[in-house]
Amino acid sequence: MTPPFRVDLIVGARPNFVKIAPIFRALRARGTFQPRLIHTGQHYDFLMDRVFFEELRIPAPDVNLKIGSGPASEQVAKIMLALHPLFVEDRPALLVVVGDVNSTVAAALTASYLRIPIAHVEAGLRSFDREMPEENNRVVVDQLSDLHFVTERQGEANLLAERIAPERIKFVGNVMIDTLYDALPRAVPSPQTLAGFQAAPAFHAAVAQKGYAFVTLHRPSNVDDPTKLAALIAALSAVSERLPLVFAVHPRTRANIEKAGLGAKLASPNLAVCEPLAYLASLGLMRDAKAVVTDSGGMQEETTALGVPCITVRDNTERPITIEEGTNTLIGADPARILPVIEDILRTGGKSGLKPALWDGKAAERIAAEAEAFLTARPEKA
Ligand code: UD1
Repeated sequence: MTPPFRVDLIVGARPNFVKIAPIFRALRARGTFQPRLIHTGQHYDFLMDRVFFEELRIPAPDVNLKIGSGPASEQVAKIMLALHPLFVEDRPALLVVVGDVNSTVAAALTASYLRIPIAHVEAGLRSFDREMPEENNRVVVDQLSDLHFVTERQGEANLLAERIAPERIKFVGNVMIDTLYDALPRAVPSPQTLAGFQAAPAFHAAVAQKGYAFVTLHRPSNVDDPTKLAALIAALSAVSERLPLVFAVHPRTRANIEKAGLGAKLASPNLAVCEPLAYLASLGLMRDAKAVVTDSGGMQEETTALGVPCITVRDNTERPITIEEGTNTLIGADPARILPVIEDILRTGGKSGLKPALWDGKAAERIAAEAEAFLTARPEKA
């Protein structure tokens, strides 16, 4: 094929925006692509959505499918119904999808039925835990994809084990870290974010003295079961007596806290609770934290890039390099294990790590170059 190459990029949920921003820019900068940005509308709250477009300097999406929340099957089906006519009317030469959310799998399935080639960014990550919807999404998307962009070497090994042809796999590095390096100079300093919290004066005094840990939790396995959620909140409350905590609460988590009547249990003097944070505030809080406590995939990687100890409240991770080379510690699902790791961090400073190979801020440029080579080598009419 010859340029210009029509490429569709799909975003739907918060982590997608962080990943697509540098890819969109790199495709534009190359001059051979005509990228179209399609937002499924899986996430729609200002703090889960629009603020990311502003802060990450991504143009408003060309199309927003506005599918919103709902059971996974409904989300996927609605996205497919809405995407199909768009692809038929203005057929892209390539579909680019990122990560593992429901929007990712829905778009990949739609393109596969129309024989549109698919590039998957962040391919090959595996937790080997089929209880997680994201794991099933990853496996399906990788089987459907023609180009697999890998963030860490283990991803390549996982894809080869699933009989993906080696020539389709490109180890390019991590686009989420491209965004991190680009945004770091603009990160909101943590004192500025903390000053905006309506926490008890004791909280601010404790932070000034000891620092703080930054907490985010939203995995269904941690927050959907009221008993587990209660144990998690009790554990956070206990940890906050040793180190102040800032807990940015995802809408899924907030809804479950309200449903289970657990709001009052969160009221501890050294525990500040806030809405989901915008990217630049979150980045500043992560950078300056003594530790991060999370079940997010992206934050395991971001803390490794920042050199901040991360405590992951999960039984497994699809991002093993953050443990082998980075600052991540997997504690399993028992929240009582957070406190001993925090104690260790207070004593020793916690786990230090290396920066993984190709997490250098240039992953998106490599992706654009590989996508161009792939499309150039294709016959004119597929
Ligand atoms: C999704 C992704 C998850 C990712 C997370 C980041 C899947 C399977 N999961 O999970 O991998 O880590 O996004 O945030 O795609 N809600 C709002 N406002 C919004 C979005 C959601 O209030 O803007 C509420 C709704 O009650 C909704 C719930 O959050 O039902 C869950 O949203 P959903 O998109 O289904 O999954 P997440 O838990 O956000």
